[in-house]
Amino acid sequence: MEREEAVKIVNDLVESKNIRYHCLAAEAAMIALYGHFEKQGKVDAGTRQDWGIVGLLHDADYEVTNKSLELHTQETTKKLKEVGAPKEIIDAVRGHADKESRETLMAKAIYAADEMTGLIVAAALVRPDKKLEGLTAESVLKRFKEPAFARSANREQIKTCENELGISLPEFTEVILNSMKEISKEIGL
Ligand SMILES: [Fe+2]
Repeated sequence: MEREEAVKIVNDLVESKNIRYHCLAAEAAMIALYGHFEKQGKVDAGTRQDWGIVGLLHDADYEVTNKSLELHTQETTKKLKEVGAPKEIIDAVRGHADKESRETLMAKAIYAADEMTGLIVAAALVRPDKKLEGLTAESVLKRFKEPAFARSANREQIKTCENELGISLPEFTEVILNSMKEISKEIGL
């Protein structure tokens, strides 16, 4: 599947700027995670581009399914099937919303990374400059431990990086934070 096909799906389904930014952040995170696991020879499904596409599309239908957890990923699944997307991409997108079991590393990665990008955005937005540039992994980890901070960023879900992906929380934070810094302008941070 080509990235252009995924971008078209995002353009068809996403209206909100914040969702678009979130999709781009998740794409960057997934590509960086692919690089991390590729070096360890652990990637069991999907190409680098597939991992990026899973990030880009995981929440694409969030608005059109009217934020219904029940329906979430249904529209994206339909669009992915129309373009003949590989099953592992569809399964990973569906898996992040518990519509499919998460079998591959790619599926497990988006599940944990999704929430981590949210925590990082929240941690950037409380800085005086509201930018990612000066944000450190240490301060994201401090925020992680404050339950009242960005409550919607599910800490248990983020923590699955350790058991499901075999990457420590500090390293997971670092990899994703750096990937988002690289596209900070594109995501308004
Ligand atoms: Fe998401």
